[in-house]
Amino acid sequence: MSTQTKIIRKTITDIKKMKASGEKISMLTAYDYAMASIMDECSIDIILVGDSLGNVVLGYDTTLPVTMDDMLHHTKAVARGANNALIVADMPFLSYQVSVEEAVRNAGRFLKEANAQSVKLEGGREFSETVRRITDSGIPVMAHLGLTPQSIHQLGGYKVQGKKEDAARKIIEDAIMLEEAGAFSVVLECIPEGLAEEITQSLTIPTIGIGAGVHCDGQVLVINDLLGINERFTPKFVKKYANLNSEIKKAVKNYIGEVKHGNFPDSEHSFK
Ligand code: KIV
Repeated sequence: MSTQTKIIRKTITDIKKMKASGEKISMLTAYDYAMASIMDECSIDIILVGDSLGNVVLGYDTTLPVTMDDMLHHTKAVARGANNALIVADMPFLSYQVSVEEAVRNAGRFLKEANAQSVKLEGGREFSETVRRITDSGIPVMAHLGLTPQSIHQLGGYKVQGKKEDAARKIIEDAIMLEEAGAFSVVLECIPEGLAEEITQSLTIPTIGIGAGVHCDGQVLVINDLLGINERFTPKFVKKYANLNSEIKKAVKNYIGEVKHGNFPDSEHSFK
């Protein structure tokens, strides 16, 4: 008899039903097995292996240097840790922008090699054909509008998007086009809450907000931000639910002190 745990992950159908029933969708990023297991045990709905990996785990200034190999490596680890949550893998910069063919092949690698169930990509109407072709290949796509960090140099900085009427109109139209192209949900990053509400009401697929107010169908945060691990600049939309930076420092300093003074290991942690 097999002793393996049966993996029954949430599906995109479950996620779409949550919008219909009015149940809010919870999503967090994870980059490794340990964190994915913990949040899966807490019944998170969606785990995103975000390309924020570049900033919070790999120490880059932007997400631009993140590669397919980086993303596949970390998605595999997350997938080993999560038995219940839907897993979304972020397509890194230049893995889907060069051609539709490359986009489909790279998207497929996340399902074939890394055990993800879906992918996310940034961009509006200019990627609707890409979204359509990836979706038609059997790979669910989460879209991402508003502040799209892979276009940071084009946007001129990490700023709130869609404040002016024409910019807001374009984001609404993009969202509708991406839904028509087959996206199963859309992340809305750093846009005014009124605009996010209008988009949420205009779409039949769920919106997942980050810095987009309470009216989205779900919310996402970067796990390192939520846990207060990094001391770097914290954006206004981040709520720190813990301060692990100081907790970790306390534990590490304690350990160093005990090692230096010969108090660790004591008899409880030694073999006779
Ligand atoms: O990479 C990431 O973590 C993301 C979220 C901020 C949505 O794209």
